[in-house]
Amino acid sequence: MGLRVSRRLWMSVAVVSAALSLVPAVEAWAQNKPLPQVVKKNGKAALMVDGAPYLILGAQANNSSNYVAQLPKVWPAIKDIQANTLEIPVAWEQIEPKEGQFDFAYVDELVKQARQNHVRLVLLWFGTWKNTSPNYTPDWVKLDNKRFPRITKKDGTMSYCLSPMERATLEADKKAFVALMTHLKKIDGDQHTVIMIQPENESGTYGSVRDYSPKAEKVFNGPVPQALLKKKGISKGGTWSEVFGKHADEYFHAWHIASYINEIAAAGRAVYDLPMYVNAALREPLIEVGPETYSSGGPTHNVIDIYQAAAPAIDIIAPDIYKRDSANYEAVLSLYSKFENPLFVPETGSDTEFARYIFSVFGRGGIGFSPFGIDYTGYTNYPLGGKDMSPEGLKPFREKYALFAPVMRDWAKIAYENPVWGVSEADDRKPQKIDLGGKWTLDVLYGEWQFGLTEWTWLGKIDPVPGREKPNGGVVVAQLSEDEFLVTGVHARLNFGLGPKNKGKTLIFRSVEQGHFENGQWVVDFVWNGDQTDYGLNLTGQPAVLKVKLATY
Ligand code: DGJ
Repeated sequence: MGLRVSRRLWMSVAVVSAALSLVPAVEAWAQNKPLPQVVKKNGKAALMVDGAPYLILGAQANNSSNYVAQLPKVWPAIKDIQANTLEIPVAWEQIEPKEGQFDFAYVDELVKQARQNHVRLVLLWFGTWKNTSPNYTPDWVKLDNKRFPRITKKDGTMSYCLSPMERATLEADKKAFVALMTHLKKIDGDQHTVIMIQPENESGTYGSVRDYSPKAEKVFNGPVPQALLKKKGISKGGTWSEVFGKHADEYFHAWHIASYINEIAAAGRAVYDLPMYVNAALREPLIEVGPETYSSGGPTHNVIDIYQAAAPAIDIIAPDIYKRDSANYEAVLSLYSKFENPLFVPETGSDTEFARYIFSVFGRGGIGFSPFGIDYTGYTNYPLGGKDMSPEGLKPFREKYALFAPVMRDWAKIAYENPVWGVSEADDRKPQKIDLGGKWTLDVLYGEWQFGLTEWTWLGKIDPVPGREKPNGGVVVAQLSEDEFLVTGVHARLNFGLGPKNKGKTLIFRSVEQGHFENGQWVVDFVWNGDQTDYGLNLTGQPAVLKVKLATY
């Protein structure tokens, strides 16, 4: 008996330690901790989970992976990419197939399996709008035009899109969403497996800038709400056209969609107060285009302030970024960092070149990053994302998540409290310069070997560094004190330099330590010096977190 017990114990220890070595930084699951929430301080934001800042190393499953039968093909991919958070849909049609009759079997199983896999969840409520369409509403909604009217286009014809002006639709969606939140509180209120909710998905309308039904016309010809005038700093009120001129149609639609989502979100939060965000199908970030060319009324960058005024129950307005090129990607990040909007990328392409943008997101103090379509169900959204959904195809993301996973709580806290910077390799692959606040600078170079300088010619020709066919480098830096920086990244050479406040001096490393955190405390593993620092600090694909102390003489 004694032998049997100890053998079982030994086996469970072996299983646990094997699991831990596969998934680094698995957190102990706390009970009865404070609810997750988004907090803001000094222009910075953090997602608090169990009372401490948390970094979403996310992965979003494919749209049709929201069924129990699909889940076994989801978890292995989440493990292979080393994500700590799965974003996955809960569809209105699946929880309320018959009006008033709710079925939470999938939600129950999802939460149970997430706990078994030590993965947190962000649930995506596919309700009135999923990529603007009502396809995920139950058929008693999507087939009843009379009770749940669609938008009327300018020419009087009917759009595919449900109208945000209809109380019946709002009430029906709200009722289902509140039922979901009530259920989540019941099954997860003390564990917080589910850390955030996305009510609706890429709302807005294609093909009609707003609803032109008689009901909508009446409201459009009425006054602009005070809350919006105040947010915009406009003192003289009037009708939408009087106040906003050529933008009136789009702003009107954005205001009403945002207000609709807000009412649903607020009702859900009243029963179970989880953080909530909305996601955007993007408007062109670098060129001026009209709302006929994108999903009008959705949370595009030009209406972030309107969403903030109409939807105080929403914490974050988040961009889904499928632009592959660095100029557009960086432009989107900067547009969604305005108005003190916390930066979160809930969807991005799953192809190789998207992975490096994690450094730009976290370097701007972002709270999370998540490629889309991460599962082994056999579906890929190439050419939007990648075509290789296999452990090999996930490597570019795994390489970056492996850096952040062991320090995710530490980075999240440091980034909330300290200045941070980050760059990802640009398409031109040229060096980038970061001004680290006046005393110091950082030049980030790509495509260098760990030793020597490219201008050395004794080899005749320097071999290209392998594994660098596409841009995949980047770095994040946090300032811990005046002369002390925490650094991590991949495929980059870091040359620290003197800023204007150190003019005339000579730089020397006081020390460069590679280490890790234990209970929030820095632990030195070893010190870089000699060859390891003579040609800059060279980061490869191997995880390395450095504490760099700079000095002058
Ligand atoms: C953005 C949407 O939010 C996702 O649900 C998905 O449809 C992708 N586009 C495309 O794969």
